[in-house]
Amino acid sequence: MAEAGASRPRPRVFVARLIPDDGLAPVVEACEARVWEGELPPPRDELLRAVEGCDGILTLLTDRVDDELLDRAGPGLKVVSNFAVGFDNVDVDACTRRGIAVGNTPGVLTETTADLAWALLMAAARRVAEGDRYVRAGRWKTWGPMLLMGPDVHGATLGIVGLGRIGQAVARRAMGFGMTILYYDTRPADPSIEGELGATFVPLDDLLARADFVSLHVNLTEETRHLVNAARLRSMNSDAILVNTSRGPVVDQKALFEALRDGAIGAAALDVTDPEPIAADDPLLSLDNCLVVPHIASASRATRGKMAAMAAANLLAGVRGERLPTPVNPEVYEGYEGR
Ligand code: GLV
Repeated sequence: MAEAGASRPRPRVFVARLIPDDGLAPVVEACEARVWEGELPPPRDELLRAVEGCDGILTLLTDRVDDELLDRAGPGLKVVSNFAVGFDNVDVDACTRRGIAVGNTPGVLTETTADLAWALLMAAARRVAEGDRYVRAGRWKTWGPMLLMGPDVHGATLGIVGLGRIGQAVARRAMGFGMTILYYDTRPADPSIEGELGATFVPLDDLLARADFVSLHVNLTEETRHLVNAARLRSMNSDAILVNTSRGPVVDQKALFEALRDGAIGAAALDVTDPEPIAADDPLLSLDNCLVVPHIASASRATRGKMAAMAAANLLAGVRGERLPTPVNPEVYEGYEGR
């Protein structure tokens, strides 16, 4: 039996990458923490070894959390805190079955992610990356009346697929550009949200047929995998620009390559690919009308700091047996009566 007054052992946690100090410092202070300091994610066998006997783990979207990992962690694991709003890397049902709370970082990255979606939309429309490559290649000889022309953004029609927090933040930006805003979701938004954004609910196929710009903001699930497939790409307008800041597999990437190559759509701008990272010799990267950045939508200094603090708060609450501030599976708590 522990002696009266003896200090309890500090919780054991594994942190799967270096994260901003706003989150790392409180975790290291309160826990016996092992931190993976490599630039690349821990290889699977290292990850499995590192989680053994842990009370909590702080994962990134590059770390797969499944039954195998939970078995290796053992019965003491209380919390998986994911440093992301998305959690398709975590088998949440497997965690719930074992009573393990899962946390994510919603809200704090909404505006920053919408900023990047907007940057991609603007850059693809106005051919910013192509223009930069053109200048650097020494090809800029004179002002050209028809050089690097693209579509107008202002006054165009934007189709938002998924009008959650981030989709709404993108819609607010579009209002400033006088755009017509269409949206599709599994169900229409509250009329007050539609009214505030001037957004009209349409079936997905109508949205794809009518939009000049299509921006994707859905979670990756079995229903949304390859939501944008060959047939849907072919139904889009031939100048349309597709922006994806959600998850790579929401788009059938082979079909996207063919649609861009054949001029079935005008351009694509991707923050996410399938797989990640995209191979340097992927055919998409041979296309001038495809812009790709390395999954950086939430990567502002302030937002990454807030995500770190939030992931730490979830981890620390979980190891102390307290309710997570932002649980993905609140059903693990007694008395939970539905969202
Ligand atoms: C990033 O993609 C996230 O889900 O936070």
